[in-house]
Amino acid sequence: MSHSAHPAGPSHGHPLPGGEPVVAPPDLTVLNRRIWSANVDRAADGELTVAGLPAGQLAAEHGTPVFVLDSADLRQRARDYVAAFAGGDVFYAGKAFLCTAVARLLAEEGLGIDVCTAGELAIALRAGVDPQRLALHGNNKSVDELRQALAAGAGRIVLDSHLEIERLAELAARLGVRPRVLVRVTVGVEAHTHAFIATAHEDQKFGFSLASGQAAAAVARVLDHPELQLVGLHSHIGSQIFDTGGFEVAAHRVVGLLARIRDSHGIELPEIDLGGGQGIAYVDGDDPQPPARVAARLREIVERECGLAGLAVPRLAVEPGRAIIGPSMLTLYEVGTVKPVELDGGLVRHYVSVDGGMSDNIRTALYDAGYTVVLANRTSEAPPQLSRVVGKHCESGDIVVRDCWLPADVAPGDLLAVAATGAYCYAMASNYNRIPRPPVVAVVDGESEVLLRRETLEQLMANDVGWAVAPAGPEPAPVPGRAG
Ligand code: LLP
Repeated sequence: MSHSAHPAGPSHGHPLPGGEPVVAPPDLTVLNRRIWSANVDRAADGELTVAGLPAGQLAAEHGTPVFVLDSADLRQRARDYVAAFAGGDVFYAGKAFLCTAVARLLAEEGLGIDVCTAGELAIALRAGVDPQRLALHGNNKSVDELRQALAAGAGRIVLDSHLEIERLAELAARLGVRPRVLVRVTVGVEAHTHAFIATAHEDQKFGFSLASGQAAAAVARVLDHPELQLVGLHSHIGSQIFDTGGFEVAAHRVVGLLARIRDSHGIELPEIDLGGGQGIAYVDGDDPQPPARVAARLREIVERECGLAGLAVPRLAVEPGRAIIGPSMLTLYEVGTVKPVELDGGLVRHYVSVDGGMSDNIRTALYDAGYTVVLANRTSEAPPQLSRVVGKHCESGDIVVRDCWLPADVAPGDLLAVAATGAYCYAMASNYNRIPRPPVVAVVDGESEVLLRRETLEQLMANDVGWAVAPAGPEPAPVPGRAG
């Protein structure tokens, strides 16, 4: 027990969520294999390594903060998904993280890419992804985005509103193309995840509600447009979901609609896309299902439901984002300051400030997300200290890891590694407080390669063009002591 961490007791308040007892883990050097990517390890001297490269060397070469991608781990995850859903389609949800190198690697492994803006579309195209393997999403795709997707020959467009059906039909007629489309169905499932990332309950912006008949009406409307080729139904119930129960209800309801479409229109749609959402392990106790099990369960339920409805089993697609890229990246930060803060009851928490923060990982502030952090440049004999890893931004909610244990001797210059930052960290990064975005560096077989460069201050200034004409205002006050 640290000199500053007292044993748990009622007078200590609740420094941990849910009033958990304050008990330090026995060994801070252990790497939970569910959380860290396959090629993260510790060298003989205790330093953290990624695919053989020591954290210190990565930091020296690329600076900090830096996102480090374990490329072999990513490739393996992609392969596992493709194998699990053989006979169907895996569209990687590019919103989780997208750059040309990753798009190319995933396309090589046989994944399609789900894009939802012109920006994501442009990256996938620049990476050389076969347009037929692209699916376009979004609840408010602009006319221009729809046009670009049609012009590129995107393989699927997922329709999200009645207005969009009309827009797309008109554009398709004008361009003389007949896009394959899916109707996004809101199946009315409350996924057990954070409210901001649950997407299939009724009162939210995505898709057509099944319960109110909107989904059936959308299907009828699409079928009225010979310019559009309706190939299937789509459902996405949310993100970071561990149990398959929600997906099963979704599959059941989507197949139910397929049967009704057959009954009222005399057609059997050949595809269903059950979206993404498979959870990953961020902290001890998180227990995600392997893709093979998720696939087997989904297939089983779709086959059973189709059997009951007398439908041919449609081709199954999924759109994992987090489960593909999330665990394959970590973030390395350098510690700048350590501040012991006394809590109620005399317990002390070390506020360990790092050189990034909510600009490179907003998920803790936004979703109260949990992360795992370890000391990366060395191991330590010092006792575990209740800690909080915070960033350098000017607000108290700028927290990277809310509740963690780090060695009590963590000091300026030490490196910390935060696990599983591949999904929705770089993708949601900002320039808050005018901090340039960190680089993304891939490591394979002891070699590192920059995939995305660190932003520079010059890039941040590039759009700042100043006043065209100096605004009229009071004369600047004379500076005391300065002539003229
Ligand atoms: N398909 C659709 C239509 C989606 O909207 C999403 C995610 C996915 C697939 C991929 O979901 P995944 O497999 O990554 O869970 N920023 C939040 C997550 C937002 C997810 C948005 N849509 C976070 O950081 O947790």
